[in-house]
Amino acid sequence: MVFEKINKKNMRSMVENFPNMLGVIEPEPKSLNHAEKVRREGIDGICLLGMGGSSIAGEMIRCILVSKSSTPIISVKDYTVPMYVNENWTTIAVSYSGNTEETLSAAEDAMHRGCKTFAITSGGKLPKMVSDDAYITLPKGFQPRAALPLILSVELPLIETLVGINRTDLVEVGKRLALVQKKWVSDENAPLKLAHKLEGKIPLFMASEHLAAVAYRAKCQINENAKTASFASLIPEANHNEIESIGWFSQSNIQPIFLRSITENPRIAARFRATSEIYTDDDCNPIHIWHQASTGFEEMMAHTFLLDMLSVELAKLEGVDDVAVERITKLKNALSN
Ligand code: PA5
Repeated sequence: MVFEKINKKNMRSMVENFPNMLGVIEPEPKSLNHAEKVRREGIDGICLLGMGGSSIAGEMIRCILVSKSSTPIISVKDYTVPMYVNENWTTIAVSYSGNTEETLSAAEDAMHRGCKTFAITSGGKLPKMVSDDAYITLPKGFQPRAALPLILSVELPLIETLVGINRTDLVEVGKRLALVQKKWVSDENAPLKLAHKLEGKIPLFMASEHLAAVAYRAKCQINENAKTASFASLIPEANHNEIESIGWFSQSNIQPIFLRSITENPRIAARFRATSEIYTDDDCNPIHIWHQASTGFEEMMAHTFLLDMLSVELAKLEGVDDVAVERITKLKNALSN
């Protein structure tokens, strides 16, 4: 069994097993049957609730389904849901611990409005809020951010069922990621090589379309695992503001990393090229990263896996504990008192 191979106290072990964790669990039939029933009754929109490591799977799913489903999907990282979320909406509250106050509060708000609410969690208070067939269990003991492939393994099929589209074969995507991992060995450890390029620098991940969530995930992984500053921004939006600050980038050691897609809209590709030239003229050479992939989702996963590994390598170079989240815990404790 995959879980026996993983040392849950070791971030590297958890991240290295990303490909093996993808598709290793799935929602129980009762939850999928419930989702199918909800779909047949009609859904105006899906509102995803969750914070930090528990929200990112939903962000990724939202980005990928934008071009596949006509059901609006929004992601809420706050205490309440927007006014337009009513009884015709379905909400999915995701909290690895099941105790995150913003997620619990937003789920309560959604349920008061009559939204059908599902919960994905490894325990805590969240399961008690929903009916048995709306509750999906995650294996315990992981760091929430390292549980991304597990959360995707249940959240993606749940949402695919709710919007009525074919299920993604996550095990197959995992197998392809394992091949990417093998290639890293022949490439003298691609994540470590990238980490060396970033030593003493502040990464700025720039992406567009479905890779937007990947850029944000990379920023958060480096913040939480390597405990260093990192930022994310979007093309084309950054072309209308951030580009004016580029003169300051090289002085401040900001390293732009362009997360490219093989299916990029031609105008987006032209923007990346032009942006790259302008940045280079200002002594700031962007690093471009591409992955070969057969679907947009697989491409997202390949970028995410590489950048998750990068965060672990950066933590090692920084000499910090990539598992510890002392300040997050301190803040949560301060607020719960
Ligand atoms: O990765 C982490 O540890 C955090 O980002 C948590 O995911 C975040 O604090 C929310 O907690 P939970 O995932 O338990 O809801």
